[in-house]
Amino acid sequence: YEIMPSLVGSEMCIRDRRMAKRSITTEFTNEDAGIETSLRPQYLREYIGQEKVKSNLKVYIEAAKERGDSLDHVLLYGPPGLGKTTLAGIVANEMGTNLKITAGPAIEKPGDLAALLTNLNEGDVLFIDEIHRLSRSVEEILYPSMEDFAIDIITGKGQMAASYHLPLPKFTLVGATTRAGQLTAPLRDRFGVVLRLELYTPEELAQIVERSAGILGIKIEHDGALEIASRSRGTPRIANRLLKRVRDFAQVMSNGVITLETARTALDRLEIDELGLDRNDRRMLEAIVRFYNGGPVGLETLAAAIGEEAVTIEDVYEPYLLQIGFVSRTPRGRCITAEACKHLGCEFP
Ligand code: ADE
Repeated sequence: YEIMPSLVGSEMCIRDRRMAKRSITTEFTNEDAGIETSLRPQYLREYIGQEKVKSNLKVYIEAAKERGDSLDHVLLYGPPGLGKTTLAGIVANEMGTNLKITAGPAIEKPGDLAALLTNLNEGDVLFIDEIHRLSRSVEEILYPSMEDFAIDIITGKGQMAASYHLPLPKFTLVGATTRAGQLTAPLRDRFGVVLRLELYTPEELAQIVERSAGILGIKIEHDGALEIASRSRGTPRIANRLLKRVRDFAQVMSNGVITLETARTALDRLEIDELGLDRNDRRMLEAIVRFYNGGPVGLETLAAAIGEEAVTIEDVYEPYLLQIGFVSRTPRGRCITAEACKHLGCEFP
């Protein structure tokens, strides 16, 4: 895939570096860059899970190909690490076109987007990650590009002002966001296909782990794969990362084969528990119990108490904790649930 140079050094990368120390982070880290690319399925038939998304996408792709047309614009939304970039690549491969990758925060000015769009070829897929973070001025030139495949650019000021009408090739925009609610209505309405990605089941993740192990030449037993899968928070990115960590233990402890035993030992050593919670999750949950009597506690207050940033709590800790019903969000702040206390072995306040 071609990654736009403007993505390098974007805010996203700065946050990646900060989060890299957590094995269970859903953020795309520099370490993932190497393995994720080689593990990425290239075609729909290789893609495991997301059955609803896959079967619908298959129909849209076949229909567009039969008509000799480009695919309608696609919006993918859901938690990070579930394979949005991978799906964009698959769309391009299935359509037999090229993929260009960029991200919302990397497109600073309307001119940046114009440069990207005018460099596309007929049928190309432009992937914009974190599309909810596009600026208003950029969004405004994206609308006519998506609808009419043309942009109007004004250069200069006063008497020197000139307007150009630039026709664009018929491209497919694949937008990805973790927060569909933050997308403006006019932008959302311009996507013909809207697909929601769900967290994967442990069985699906085990299949992904086994597939990845095969590609990386790692020997793994099904029980071992399932153990990694069930501690990976429904997220392939985490599963693939844990696979690499567990391999190190297997190599040193048990002739390189990942068994249930080695997976358990390795993940315990990494302090990732049976539900995929790490020390930071537990620290946050315990802080809610100990300092705030189980909540409600405001996001900023909680963040200060555990020395994290509020956005990290919102984007990294919380989605999974909400999903498994360990925290609840109320208008007055975050609360811990009885279920979480049971897991932590503390008394529910
Ligand atoms: N690697 C990461 N996600 C995957 C998926 N959904 N299917 C197959 N391999 C993957």
